[in-house]
Amino acid sequence: MKNSRVYAIILASGKGERMNCGFPKQFLEINGRTLVEYAIDAFENNKNVDSIIIVIEPASREKLNEILQKSHYTKVSAVVDGGKTRFESSVNGVNAVPVNDAKILIHDAVRPFVSQRIIDEALCALDRYPAVEVAIRATDTIIERNDGFLLSATTDREHMMQVQTPQGFSLDVIKKAHEAAEREKYSKATDDCELIFRYGLCDVFVVEGDRRNIKITYPEDLLFASCIVNALNF
Ligand code: CTP
Ligand code: MG
Repeated sequence: MKNSRVYAIILASGKGERMNCGFPKQFLEINGRTLVEYAIDAFENNKNVDSIIIVIEPASREKLNEILQKSHYTKVSAVVDGGKTRFESSVNGVNAVPVNDAKILIHDAVRPFVSQRIIDEALCALDRYPAVEVAIRATDTIIERNDGFLLSATTDREHMMQVQTPQGFSLDVIKKAHEAAEREKYSKATDDCELIFRYGLCDVFVVEGDRRNIKITYPEDLLFASCIVNALNF
């Protein structure tokens, strides 16, 4: 593997509106540990990751600091403020990288079960491609519905994939993507690879994800999450 420094950026600045649990869902606990801790652990424990940057909304900084003090992480090098959208939070995280050449992994704090295999394969792929997406094959057929609630497009399920994180980038490419989006005032991307593709910056290699690498979005997702923790000894 090439020896640029590896920075993992963990996005933990969302409000969790769909979860609607009264506080940001990244602080929900399973077996006494918060979702954000599970996510940090995955990168702290990966031998190829050098540094971790956490993006957090100012109102939750104190809560995060308590967690960081308790857990004695050695790789967390910065905690920075998030923005109004995932895109803005991602920009803030990338701008906090203190070097000019690095491999960047951007990960959702609410995907607690990312595997070491996924992290390693994404980093390996970054030796050959400047942008890497992690995705799994769609099991449901995907359609588009228009504003009038009518089916407006169908897709071929064979080629449809659902995106997960982390997503990997060389630092220069993700900065170019963010700059292009800022110029266009396009801030609704929920996926940084979308920007690479939108602006035609480079090929995006797709690494196989894992069905356990779920994003905790709705209350029901916590049922599966507890099963994963208990069955796999996370
Ligand atoms: N995120 C972020 N900053 C934002 C919005 C989202 O850092 N302004 C992060 C979330 O904390 C989460 C990840 O992006 O780890 C994926 O977003 P999502 O699942 O949509 O989380 P929320 O935006 O918190 O949830 P919701 O959309 O239901 O409000
Ligand atoms: Mg959101």
